[in-house]
Amino acid sequence: MAKSATVYVCSACAHESAKWHGRCPACEEWSTLVEEARRPAAPAAGRRGPGGATGGGGAPVEPVALRNVQAPHIPRFSTGIGELDRVLGGGIVPGSLVLLGGSPGIGKSTITTATLGNLVAAGRDVLYVSGEESAAQVRLRAERLGGGALEVPIIAETDLDTVIATVEAEQPDVCVVDSVQVLHAAQLTGAPGSVGQVREVAGRLMRCAKERGTAVILVGHVTKEGALAGPRVLEHLVDCVLSFEGERERTYRTLRALKNRFGSTNEAGVFEMRDEGLVEVEDASARFVAEATRAPGSVVLASMEGSRPLLVEVQALVAPTELVPPRRMANGVDRNRLALVLAVLTRHAGIALGSADVFVSVAGGVRVDEPGADLAVALAVASAARGAVLGDGRAPLAAFGELGLTGELRHAAHPDRRLAEAKKFGLTSVLHPGDGLPDLRTALRRGLGAGEAPARAA
Ligand code: TYD
Ligand code: MG
Repeated sequence: MAKSATVYVCSACAHESAKWHGRCPACEEWSTLVEEARRPAAPAAGRRGPGGATGGGGAPVEPVALRNVQAPHIPRFSTGIGELDRVLGGGIVPGSLVLLGGSPGIGKSTITTATLGNLVAAGRDVLYVSGEESAAQVRLRAERLGGGALEVPIIAETDLDTVIATVEAEQPDVCVVDSVQVLHAAQLTGAPGSVGQVREVAGRLMRCAKERGTAVILVGHVTKEGALAGPRVLEHLVDCVLSFEGERERTYRTLRALKNRFGSTNEAGVFEMRDEGLVEVEDASARFVAEATRAPGSVVLASMEGSRPLLVEVQALVAPTELVPPRRMANGVDRNRLALVLAVLTRHAGIALGSADVFVSVAGGVRVDEPGADLAVALAVASAARGAVLGDGRAPLAAFGELGLTGELRHAAHPDRRLAEAKKFGLTSVLHPGDGLPDLRTALRRGLGAGEAPARAA
């Protein structure tokens, strides 16, 4: 076998060097050189990674109008997990490379083991490559999951060549690699998990996936700092990036598609971690509404998780503080978005929060990442600041809408679906921009009752 050489390539300017340098000799950036394996170019076509240049001058080819391009119907493998199928765009596409990212302990190994178990039960050939845990540890998990999980063939291996050889010999329909950060390509000197290693591992697995039609699910850890140290560098390479979010201590998890070549990136699925594994939560709205407290500081947000409406409870706590600057804590909503909402509340609704700690949280550990959450956050904070219950005190009040910087209420996507969902769960009073509400002040007056005293100085 021809020996492949390694080179160091600058990720800023693509300069190649035979030796590693702390600082790129060409562009003088620090810490940009990444190790890469160079195989001698094959005599026929010098195929490289996706988008990579193909070698040599070839004869011109005739371009084809898109209309005349044959688009075969792609059959998909159902994972047996409805929420996962939906996020994938209808199931796993044969030969595709899926990256599943998430922080440690969120449930990546659980959902992938359960998926392979379901596929085995449906008569598919699968392979589980565990680099992190021993086969015995994975077996213990499989015992809890039940179903076909105990029938899943496993190898506990971290050597990339061995993994590729096994995939080529076994030719599974779907292969899970848990995780991409622990596999090791022997040609490279870098430690497993380094950028060069992770890229090489994913690139080789991708070639293997495309050539054999094996769908590969790569599991990747997100580091504590939120930098997808490994996975980020792979996003352009893979067909689909799924992100598993939530807090380990809480039961609810959301699965989102951040990139999907075979479906929409708007989809999200809700799961609950139970003793017997991850369970899909199909009636998430019903649960969150039933759990809503109806106390001051609580409001139901009619949000959209992709194409699906979801009702979640937003809670706020406003407490006087001596701290300068006061604390601003956001769980499940974006911190910057919260800062904006607080500024608009202060400036345009007369609710002073300068000497108060503000905590905002979406109940159940769900994350809502959409501007349509602004109004609900503002209502919850205002209600907490005044110690007044929103709505009529019987059914919880629901809300949605984006806040503009001048305090105006802006349109949020799919108002009809949000309203229908609220109605379905008995929430008849919904504050939203289409309801004759021009701005935040009017919405607060409507939500907190006309007779309310003006803002309590905090
Ligand atoms: P795991 O899938 O190992 O997380 P990851 O691969 O993302 O690091 O699961 C993490 C947690 O889930 C672990 O703390 C135990 C818990 N768990 C359950 O609560 N129920 C179960 O059935 C299983 C398998 C795990
Ligand atoms: Mg794991």
